[in-house]
Amino acid sequence: MSKILVTGACGYIGSHTLVDLIENNFEVISLDDNSRSSDNVLDAVKDITGVNVKNYQINLCDFEKTKSVFDENPDISGIIHFAAFKTVPESVEKPLLYYRNNLNSLINLLELVQEFDVPNFIFSSSCSVYGDVKDLPVTEKTRLVRTASPYGNTKKVGEEILEDFAKISNGKIIALRYFNPIGAHPSGLIGESPFSTPQNLMPIITETAIGKRSKMMVFGDDYPTRDGSCIRDYIHVSDIAHAHTLAFKYLEENKKAENYDVLNIGSGNGSTVFELINAFENATGQKLNYEVADRRPGDTIAIYANNDKLKSKLGWTPKYSLDDMMKTAWNWEKSQL
Ligand code: WQD
Repeated sequence: MSKILVTGACGYIGSHTLVDLIENNFEVISLDDNSRSSDNVLDAVKDITGVNVKNYQINLCDFEKTKSVFDENPDISGIIHFAAFKTVPESVEKPLLYYRNNLNSLINLLELVQEFDVPNFIFSSSCSVYGDVKDLPVTEKTRLVRTASPYGNTKKVGEEILEDFAKISNGKIIALRYFNPIGAHPSGLIGESPFSTPQNLMPIITETAIGKRSKMMVFGDDYPTRDGSCIRDYIHVSDIAHAHTLAFKYLEENKKAENYDVLNIGSGNGSTVFELINAFENATGQKLNYEVADRRPGDTIAIYANNDKLKSKLGWTPKYSLDDMMKTAWNWEKSQL
């Protein structure tokens, strides 16, 4: 059984990925400083899988402490690196915090990959590396333009660091560019737990429906799209999680795989904000109180993935529909009361 070190495993995508890896017979250990998450999520992972995952509560920017995890686990056969700050507006206000945290942690980890000869590495990247693109859907070959935020740039620079590192490393690296993860595990036991007031559309929808907010805003209805609101590629978090398991298996089974590769992890479908609101209302029977507000600064008009490479290379197929995404997100919100 391969042992995978999952950084940021107590976070939203990390915790769903732990479950998927365990269900596919991988052994996992978690490294998460819990500065923006809680290790209570590991109790829920245990309830779902029956497996008690050990967490090292360590900040990856602390090289010596991070190294101690490798000293204790010399048999780590791969790393899935989720740990990072990810709040776009915060990154605009505090760019140095984002560059320091997201890049120092990556560099420390790669130093240890080299020292301990870890063969496989999967990196959490983001569709935000594409910036404001014109040609849709985006493929992995779409030329990257300036990212809209320092957060996005930490992912873009992170990819460049990995590409350079892959040239001198014996190991294999895959960067996964996530589109918009939403929904929660069908068990209702794990989901998204924002560490501060949510800024993303899906938790704002569920918080409005449950009454934590009296109303929500649709940021702009005058964009050049089919109904005037922005288009995004929403994908169920468990479908994203499973892509990691498949990517890991691919690296283990293909000794001749490229040293460095990039994959879009999106559903391939673009939905507008109004379409998402309708999908939620239809799936749950809840009416949302919303108003149209001004455009939100920094928003890309439209982006969605071409996911052909993900499907053909990894054999990935989505398990969850937009309706499932709405229902599982709503179940999760209700369970948090
Ligand atoms: C979606 C749409 C808003 C809130 C996120 C991450 C980013 C990247 C992709 C991972 C936009 C609109 C929102 C509201 C609204 N992921 N909206 N009312 O901006 O696509 O980016 O996913 O790296 O890093 O932040 O997601 O959920 O914030 O917004 O109308 O109250 O919903 O304008 O069009 P976004 P989002």
